[in-house]
Amino acid sequence: MKQATLSLDPAFAIGPVDPRVRGSFVEHLGRCVYGGIYEPDHPDADPDGFRTDVLDLTRELGVTTVRYPGGNFVSGYTWEDAIGPKDKRRRRLDLAWKAIETNAVGVDEFAAWCRKAGVEPMMAVNLGTRGVDAATALVEYCNHPSGSYWSDLRVSHGAKDPHNIKIWCLGNEMDGPWQIAHKNARDYGILAQQTAHAMRLVDPDLELVACGSSSRRMPTFGSWEAEVLEHTYGVVDYVSLHSYYRPKDGDFASFLASGVDMDAMIESVIATCDYVKAKVRSNKTINLSYDEWNVWYHERGDEREWVEAPALYQDEYSLADAVVVGSLLNSLLRRADRVSMACFAQLVNVIAPITTENGGPAWRQSTFYPMKYAFSYGVGHTLRVEPSGPVVETAEYGAVPQLDCTATLDGETGDVAIFAVNRSLTEPLGVVADVRALGSGSADSGVRPVAHVALHGPDRDATNTRDNARVVPQELPVPVVDNGELRVELPPMSWNMIRLSTPAA
Ligand code: AHR
Repeated sequence: MKQATLSLDPAFAIGPVDPRVRGSFVEHLGRCVYGGIYEPDHPDADPDGFRTDVLDLTRELGVTTVRYPGGNFVSGYTWEDAIGPKDKRRRRLDLAWKAIETNAVGVDEFAAWCRKAGVEPMMAVNLGTRGVDAATALVEYCNHPSGSYWSDLRVSHGAKDPHNIKIWCLGNEMDGPWQIAHKNARDYGILAQQTAHAMRLVDPDLELVACGSSSRRMPTFGSWEAEVLEHTYGVVDYVSLHSYYRPKDGDFASFLASGVDMDAMIESVIATCDYVKAKVRSNKTINLSYDEWNVWYHERGDEREWVEAPALYQDEYSLADAVVVGSLLNSLLRRADRVSMACFAQLVNVIAPITTENGGPAWRQSTFYPMKYAFSYGVGHTLRVEPSGPVVETAEYGAVPQLDCTATLDGETGDVAIFAVNRSLTEPLGVVADVRALGSGSADSGVRPVAHVALHGPDRDATNTRDNARVVPQELPVPVVDNGELRVELPPMSWNMIRLSTPAA
């Protein structure tokens, strides 16, 4: 069996893992809102119409922040249509996804749902068809205590206390020609700067995200970020990144290496942010908000009638997809020093780890598990692990390391979590980790392996359905630490989490 090596040393901490990397996304798209988080006629709905089974799974997943209301949807959104008495709300054409939007859920309902779910809202403003005025009015509606038109309107709708939404996205994917009222970098940069400036006049404590590229494959990738940030550097805190992956033409070797692309996108955007920092002579550092990422088997087509909540993009995820999601989580953790926020897209039904049936149950897809474990155990500081070992050949990325690995150390408890993906479709991989620095340095260093949990199996296409959960984490034998070395075997095409307790607290 081939072997990879790495070292774990608390002295080589990359940065603290920001809890907001454990974010998700709820868009008015398909059945994410209607039939997903909200279904008033469902037997498990609470008095506000929210599905309690979905709330329970959201809490189990460990999500911290949720982006809303889009996505492409936001670029045609009139938020005022979705406030006040429900029977007076306007039914609108959602041009982004060709659907009828009832507006039964709006910002007040979403804020209420966030409180129940125990998550922080991350709100996007429409910089497609709208601009400064609608954005400042929305901040006033959400965050101003009272005594002004919009804040008093919110109070009259039953929300006495401000929603106090602090994180705001300045539009969505404005680089994409598919976006309603898509803009070039200069026009978007100027509009984003003006909007950010005005929003901060309403509430100076906002954290603002400028739109970066909608993928690394966009022809404007790089130049878009540079030009947008030259206009907005002084008024924004983050720039966004979006990436979706899928196997192309059955090329699973490249698919399993999708994290290589994500790593490259992260490094490129960091470099671009720092280039603009130098150019505008700023002392401030712009960090990254990876606010859309996932595996997505794109199908698009608008040959349908205008209906409410059409069942769109309800991908059924496989074991292979879950392994790739685990690897993408590694990429996010790896640059904990700069990736401050991230949202897997989306939370429920639409390219999501949670699936529901209207009137029926909710269940966990395969991709639920690497998220749940990374969110729960990938805490503290990310460590630089410097793995070395064999490579696998891929058509898209050339030779890539067979082992994709990152690790976190919780400085308060001394708990270490190692997240390891074996990218070989067929070969197991031995891993030897030097853990002496985590312990006392003696033969019995005090480092104790606690668990080895893995997603693996013979059928890479296995999925979970409402009645059959075929992809669930398996407990493997707890590995041993001998003479300062942790030895563990990773099954072929697997996602793994190895937990250690250490005296490093
Ligand atoms: O998450 C689905 C869609 O993907 C979002 O609406 C858009 O921002 C992206 O292209």
